[in-house]
Amino acid sequence: MRHKVAVVGGTGLCDWPGLEFGKARKINTPYGSPSAELQALRYQGVEFLFLPRHGGKHSIPPHKINYRANLYALHSLGVKQVLAVNAVGGIGTRYGAEVIAVPDQINDYTWGREHTYFDGEDGQVEHIDFSYPYSQPLRERLLAAGLTAEIPMVDGGVYAATQGPRLETAAEIRRLAKDGNDLVGMTGMPEAALARELAMDYASLCLVVNPAAGESDELITMDDITLVLNTGMEKVKTILAGAICALAKMD
Ligand code: HPA
Repeated sequence: MRHKVAVVGGTGLCDWPGLEFGKARKINTPYGSPSAELQALRYQGVEFLFLPRHGGKHSIPPHKINYRANLYALHSLGVKQVLAVNAVGGIGTRYGAEVIAVPDQINDYTWGREHTYFDGEDGQVEHIDFSYPYSQPLRERLLAAGLTAEIPMVDGGVYAATQGPRLETAAEIRRLAKDGNDLVGMTGMPEAALARELAMDYASLCLVVNPAAGESDELITMDDITLVLNTGMEKVKTILAGAICALAKMD
């Protein structure tokens, strides 16, 4: 079975009512193993795949994720459209906790990650266009699904990909703000670029789980993050379900 759409996100994301579980496939790639088995799912007759990027037990930190294997595995099963879900910190008043945003740009501050399929090993140098890292049609599907479900969303925002796993200092967030960033997370890159290298459409649905460092008077705790994650992810699931059904109708 070939699949057109895949969701890449946090462990346990794809478990909403009405979902039917198909085969889970263990895939090997020339770049190693993906974070987990690729889970086939069906919702209202629409088939798609789910890959938990941190692994089935949520044990792989952002800088250790094998992004190349993950995207390659999806591509090898015929995936053309990737809906990524990212938990992020918010910068500025428009991106407070619980905001759901569909970013339109990226700044990449990660380092030391295997970030390309074009390593020059086959004697070829390749430079892909990445001016607009997210697919506009996919972004529009996500925003439309939010509108239909009456879930407020923010259209646009610049995603800063940081190395992690630690959170940033307040000074780093001030610098990120000066650079024009609105959202800060650790998993958006190189995922988006690898999808582009494989010619897959890619968009991200970001849930702001905390004001970024120094953006509020409170320290950032995992407890606070978990609280927002639990309520926010329910809305994210509704948006995803709507977008997945809409994508199936686009054929
Ligand atoms: N910074 C980086 N990544 C994150 C954050 C943050 O504040 N919150 C959730 N992921």
